[in-house]
Amino acid sequence: MRPRLAIVTGCSSGIGLALTREMLSSGWQVLGIARRSAGIEHDDFTELALDLADSEALRRAAAQDIAPLLQRTENERVAIVNNAATIGSLTRLSDTDPARLTRLFAVNTTAPIFLAGQAASLVPETVKLRIVNISSGAAHSPFAGLGDYSATKAALRLAGRTQALELEEAGRTSAQAAVFSFEPGVVATDMQIRAREADPAVFPAQPAFQDFHERGLLHPPEAVIGEILAFCTGDPVLSFTESRFGS
Ligand SMILES: NC(=O)c1ccc[n+]([C@@H]2O[C@H](COP(=O)([O-])OP(=O)(O)OC[C@H]3O[C@@H](n4cnc5c(N)ncnc54)[C@H](OP(=O)(O)O)[C@@H]3O)[C@@H](O)[C@H]2O)c1
Repeated sequence: MRPRLAIVTGCSSGIGLALTREMLSSGWQVLGIARRSAGIEHDDFTELALDLADSEALRRAAAQDIAPLLQRTENERVAIVNNAATIGSLTRLSDTDPARLTRLFAVNTTAPIFLAGQAASLVPETVKLRIVNISSGAAHSPFAGLGDYSATKAALRLAGRTQALELEEAGRTSAQAAVFSFEPGVVATDMQIRAREADPAVFPAQPAFQDFHERGLLHPPEAVIGEILAFCTGDPVLSFTESRFGS
């Protein structure tokens, strides 16, 4: 059987860790990217310790470690899962620090766009390409105190739509190459803990996050990854699809 290769960013915790484990169990080869180790011992798992905010390190890793995998003609398919993100400053936009905002965009928006672009240009046309951008309800709706995070996710969502258009224009069918923007809903991960622990005086949406937790509305990461795996494994009928977990 020809190999199925996935590159999963943010493999060290939460949704990315659950997805990496599931993909390995389903026979995928996975290159995981994060600053911390995922702590997974598996013959088909390789990890790259990388700060996605460091654009020079990202460029080097792309050339040395990622491009040779993307270019393999023996792959049956390649999935890029742009999952890594941070929640942002959890303050109002009037308190924006430009350096912090630049770093947030680097991780949540620039790195995913760059990785998807590398895949679009390097994965051979004979190999199926699936690009998954993990999105958020905050890409569509405003929440006080989440404006910076929302902006990064809204930008990524539209970049994904543009990527799909460009793949179509390059003559790739949706079975050959497709993009998925997936909102996982509210998931019990470190990101939610950060939101709950924020000071409501500077993060007015904090009580809403506390409420999700207290009402038992958070899903375990393992519960939300099925649609991602199904997209990576299937042949989508559209070059761009988006969905929200549970809807
Ligand atoms: N949890 C939710 O309710 C929720 C809701 C909507 C959307 N999402 C989205 O779901 C995705 C996964 O988040 P999660 O909830 O699973 O959160 P999480 O447990 O905090 O995981 C975030 C992952 O991103 C990685 N990451 C963060 N900054 C990085 C950097 N500078 N360089 C490399 N990797 C970095 C982290 O790894 P290291 O710290 O080891 O680098 C970690 O593996 C994100 O895109 C998030 O926006 C989550």
